[in-house]
Amino acid sequence: MATEQMQGETEETAATLLLPNLLAFQELIHSFPEDGWEKCWEQGLTPWDLGKPTPILQQLHQMGALPKGRALVPGCGMGYDVVSIACPERYVVGIDISEIALNRAVQLFSSSPNVNHFIFLKEDFFTWHPTELFDLIFDYTFFCAIEPEMRVAWAEQMSGLLRPDGELITLMFPISDHIGGPPYKVSISDYEEVLCPMGFEAISIMDNELAVGPRKGKEKIGRWRKIRVNSLL
Ligand SMILES: C[S@@+](CC[C@H](N)C(=O)[O-])C[C@H]1O[C@@H](n2cnc3c(N)ncnc32)[C@H](O)[C@@H]1O
Repeated sequence: MATEQMQGETEETAATLLLPNLLAFQELIHSFPEDGWEKCWEQGLTPWDLGKPTPILQQLHQMGALPKGRALVPGCGMGYDVVSIACPERYVVGIDISEIALNRAVQLFSSSPNVNHFIFLKEDFFTWHPTELFDLIFDYTFFCAIEPEMRVAWAEQMSGLLRPDGELITLMFPISDHIGGPPYKVSISDYEEVLCPMGFEAISIMDNELAVGPRKGKEKIGRWRKIRVNSLL
């Protein structure tokens, strides 16, 4: 009885992270494993969408604290983060499997003054083989959105897409103890478990002081670099 009550409470905590549509969104994702994301975009069930760039990423960009060159935002959704860090010194590629999301992103940002410095591509992160690698990859609400059994493949692909001296920035969310997903709960060790065997090391892991609303206290920003090619070689 006590356990049942506790389980109910943790599930409720999860739901309150991204209300109002979290449970309907999860149901859709699980009911349509093939195109659940597209259906969510179609039906407007996008509880993760901040409607603006991620504040901590914008701040790092404004401080000149992000690598220049080529940047990637996997699972970019409406693309706010893509556009917010695109500039003459940094070309940003946003990829997503949802055509609807990308069409909306193109529509929203096609008149941006920095339009020549970013692009949106319909690609599956796990099977994509671009011709050029990246100096920066920014992951926010993508790691927590994929099925946990895909996390090893996520790390392998991150390693494969990043230049040897590139940087991976993970905004780790939601750091909580809830059951189920997406978003699936994450912890620092969930990232270490898959990134360290690929040769990554955390340069820094800090609380995200600029987390938005109910995400406060549930986010940490991790900056990772490869210290060796990988442990399998
Ligand atoms: C939780 S949303 C986050 C969107 C965006 N990062 C944001 O914070 O607003 C996850 C996004 O990943 C996309 N997605 C899911 N699986 C993907 C995959 N295998 N490759 C590329 N995008 C994917 C979904 O369509 C969705 O837009």
